[in-house]
Amino acid sequence: MNGIEMKKYGILLIGCGHIGTQHIEGIYYRDNINVYAVVDTNLEKAKLTAKKYNAKHFGTDYHEFISSPEVDIVIIATYTSTHLLILKDSLANGKHVLCEKPIAGNLEDGIEFRDLVKNTKQKVLVALVLRHNTSYNTMKKLIDDGEIGELKIVRVSHSHHSTDWERDKALLADCSPVVDCGVHYFDVMQWFTGSKIVEVSGFGNKTEADAPRNNYTFSTVKLDNGCIGFFEAGWGNTIATLNVKEFIGTKGRITLTMRDNRVSDREEGDLISIYYHEGREYRTLNVDSEYKNMYGQIETLIDMIENDSPGSPTMDEVFEAFYVTIKADEAINNSTVIKL
Ligand SMILES: NC(=O)c1ccc[n+]([C@@H]2O[C@H](COP(=O)([O-])OP(=O)(O)OC[C@H]3O[C@@H](n4cnc5c(N)ncnc54)[C@H](O)[C@@H]3O)[C@@H](O)[C@H]2O)c1
Repeated sequence: MNGIEMKKYGILLIGCGHIGTQHIEGIYYRDNINVYAVVDTNLEKAKLTAKKYNAKHFGTDYHEFISSPEVDIVIIATYTSTHLLILKDSLANGKHVLCEKPIAGNLEDGIEFRDLVKNTKQKVLVALVLRHNTSYNTMKKLIDDGEIGELKIVRVSHSHHSTDWERDKALLADCSPVVDCGVHYFDVMQWFTGSKIVEVSGFGNKTEADAPRNNYTFSTVKLDNGCIGFFEAGWGNTIATLNVKEFIGTKGRITLTMRDNRVSDREEGDLISIYYHEGREYRTLNVDSEYKNMYGQIETLIDMIENDSPGSPTMDEVFEAFYVTIKADEAINNSTVIKL
């Protein structure tokens, strides 16, 4: 030790469900993290999470903890429709925020969220976790290095078979799959090309009678540089899980197979396969990449706090991807093509 004490960041986790648990799992044991409190409206979930991850406090109402001087960072991992209100409460109490995507379920709330973030001195990072994923950063570099020529087509399918329809239904109450998950992949399309999505269209449907809105959406997009893409997403009891992540260029293509989809080589990591048309050759990379790099996200936020760095993605990039999803949803619902 050089005599300088490492700052420990006090964490308040709000929402101990699917993604909240992954956040705390990825950070609770780190030297610079102190899990101050975990909160869920379901007391039992909060209690178990506190016990498992050694939180000092737990409860059902975040107002009980949010003003504590021991809290530096609030992690918002609740339903999408609650993100804006909890952001406001966090900022009003002088806290930094790591907020789950999407920022909101509708455009008005999304604009308010963006404006609040841009006008506060506290730091806010929105969890577009693929920005912190080693495989995605490797693919971005391969594209930037010209390995596949000019990127022309992006193909993304990201659907899953529902194992807990009640939970999926609660998420669908706030937004459709194109908004919920499209924020990740429209951001990837804009990040990888350095271009902007300028046109959206698509279609959607309900496969469950009690789905609050389309639980399946297929969106098509055009980017300003001539690249096109599709994003297919759905969750339901009769939908199969499908993962397609493919980037097609003028000289070749890149295909990502996640570790979990590699039946016999899972231990190798993610598989990035590069096809070069000239020579008709393949190159494969095994990438030891954590799908949801939760500590990487917190490290990014801490760097924003300590060094005033812009974060990745920036609030403008987050909002741009969110705006595309809202317009894509509108295009699907009205069977129109929308130019942005
Ligand atoms: N980044 C990703 O890859 C990713 C993946 C899944 C979900 N998400 C996002 O994370 C958010 C949560 O999704 P999930 O899958 O974890 O849902 P979930 O239903 O598994 O968990 C949400 C939890 O929040 C709790 N909760 C709701 N309102 C609350 C409040 N006001 N105070 C305290 N607790 C509250 C619920 O009881 C529940 O336990 C959504 O916005 C979703 O879109 C992101």
